[in-house]
Amino acid sequence: MPIYSEKVMEHFMNPRNVGEIEDPDGIGEVGNPVCGDVMTFYIKVKDNRLADVKFKTFGCGAAIAVSSMVSEMAIGKTLDEAKKITPKLVADELDGLPKNKFHCSNLGAQALNKAIDNYRKKQAKRGKK
Ligand code: FES
Repeated sequence: MPIYSEKVMEHFMNPRNVGEIEDPDGIGEVGNPVCGDVMTFYIKVKDNRLADVKFKTFGCGAAIAVSSMVSEMAIGKTLDEAKKITPKLVADELDGLPKNKFHCSNLGAQALNKAIDNYRKKQAKRGKK
């Protein structure tokens, strides 16, 4: 059993922002083929800021804690600021993750990133019409 920090346990037991956003502005889904875990992030954007972020994670305890932390870190940030949330920053905010669980924090940052890219792509398409 890996040893988790108290913060990881706390976010795992009481994850924030779980769920789905109806009519999201962007969606990002990532999976890890090795562990089979899947994470989906939904974002709502207002004035270039993340007005809301929700997620659904089918994964290990660390993946759930990471998703919860990423959502908390991202809400209220501009899209460019949110893109700078790295797996390392997420792990640091959680007071560290066991080495073999570091890929879980990669998933969180990637899923948020993908959701932002998805939003930007949609915007670009709209602009062309
Ligand atoms: Fe795969 Fe945690 S074990 S996301």
